[in-house]
Amino acid sequence: MERTFLAIKPDGVQRKLVGEIIRRFETKGFTLVGLKFLQVSRELAEQHYDVHRERPFFGSLVEFITSGPVVAMVWEGDGVIASARKIIGATNPLSAEPGTIRGDFGVNIGRNLIHGSDAPETAQREVALWFKDEELVNWQPHL
Ligand code: CMP
Repeated sequence: MERTFLAIKPDGVQRKLVGEIIRRFETKGFTLVGLKFLQVSRELAEQHYDVHRERPFFGSLVEFITSGPVVAMVWEGDGVIASARKIIGATNPLSAEPGTIRGDFGVNIGRNLIHGSDAPETAQREVALWFKDEELVNWQPHL
């Protein structure tokens, strides 16, 4: 079954949007298989954003994701990677459609509330980076 990595960033936590954000993936019908609340280390942040290392905003990305607690999650379901990206909305909240998380709650590209893996390879890499195998729960909802 397909899995994706999602992280509610420090702005989402500080704005008390954790419940609202999780609700959107639950009510859509996806299955939560991993969840933790953590203060991200600089090392983890740099590895997570490694593809952006040469970008001018790399330093501010790392500063921000390490600035306060984050909710890291793994969600499972058919097509969950692409569907979660739709639920999250465009990277820049100003371009994100109303009805999406970023479209409804955000205005700043650097404070865009939530990260979601963008492709199967990225999802696999990010799930393995943030979670040990034994931290993931294999279960199926009885629906
Ligand atoms: P995220 O999904 O976490 O992945 C990379 C992040 O880089 C992205 O969300 C944005 O928060 C951030 N980002 C992308 N473009 C810019 C930019 N031009 N300036 C600042 N941050 C950016």
